[in-house]
Amino acid sequence: MIIECSNCHRKLRLDENLIPDHPVRLRCSSCGNSFQYEKSKNPTENSIQESEQKTRKIGVSLSKGGVGKTTTAVNLAAGCALAGYKVLLVDTDTQGQAAYMLGVKPPGGLAELMTQELRVEEALFQARENLWLLAGGKSLAGVKRMIDRKDFGAEHTLSETLAGIDGRYDFVIVDTSPGWDALTVNVLFYINELLVPVSLEIMTIQALGSFFKNLGAIKKYHAGLNIKYIVPNFMDMRVKKKSETILEKLESLYKDKLCEPIRYNNVISQAPMYGKTIYEYAPGAKGAQDYRELVRKVTGQPHLFQ
Ligand SMILES: Nc1ncnc2c1ncn2[C@@H]1O[C@H](COP(=O)(O)OP(=O)(O)OP(=O)(O)O)[C@@H](O)[C@H]1O
Ligand SMILES: [Mg+2]
Repeated sequence: MIIECSNCHRKLRLDENLIPDHPVRLRCSSCGNSFQYEKSKNPTENSIQESEQKTRKIGVSLSKGGVGKTTTAVNLAAGCALAGYKVLLVDTDTQGQAAYMLGVKPPGGLAELMTQELRVEEALFQARENLWLLAGGKSLAGVKRMIDRKDFGAEHTLSETLAGIDGRYDFVIVDTSPGWDALTVNVLFYINELLVPVSLEIMTIQALGSFFKNLGAIKKYHAGLNIKYIVPNFMDMRVKKKSETILEKLESLYKDKLCEPIRYNNVISQAPMYGKTIYEYAPGAKGAQDYRELVRKVTGQPHLFQ
């Protein structure tokens, strides 16, 4: 059976036959916390697995730079947290910009968790109410080398790291780097839903085509990977014709996955300078309205924030 430590939430495997029916005190082998445990009052392995299945794991990815992946991951995560969902934002990029955008400086993050330099509670950083961050950064370069050296199961390294943690959250939102590297492949094996931000440029549409081809190779081994949302970004009304032509092209190719566009809006690029989300920096701006619409779409709650 698997039980969860009340302090660090690490999942501990125990022989069911050794646990009596009356309350006992257990000590967590990970954090040393001692806590009372009663078989009849605590969830079993089945109920823990059920709660894990409820967690939605969404990757924000496209193997092209500057299309708004981090902006979207951060503002989607922050918007879901504002709506009352418990959210974990995972930054798998060596640029480590998610922490910067949220105006926080965690002492470590994903790299330190994957190399076991930090324990779960030390690596997780609460950035806002309902919003936790596993920060990215330069040290992820070492993690990529570690993954590359593995003989077996390299593509599941991230999934293994997050397996004991993600069941606590309603959403795990994962930001990726622009390239197609070992960590991105790990993200694609971990997530169930993929959200692809697309800048309204013809070159990006081409990048989207080759990205989807590469995804085909992953889907052979991870059938649960669902390309769910395509989010047009930088919709620019000053060059309305160009934006609309590319939008029409996207619509003809990916109609069922296409979301409402995020309009080009200066405040979206200003907010990170103040370490604020778009809802904090300019709650009435077009950018905030558009990201709220995306939150409504992803959560399936059409009346949120109204
Ligand atoms: N709708 C928008 N309007 C105005 N500026 C935007 C918009 N979306 C993103 N930006 C700005 O565009 C730049 C690139 O965005 P972002 O860093 O999110 O892209 P990215 O895909 O994560 O880049 P990278 O591939 O380097 O990780 C940032 O300066 C961001 O503030
Ligand atoms: Mg980015």
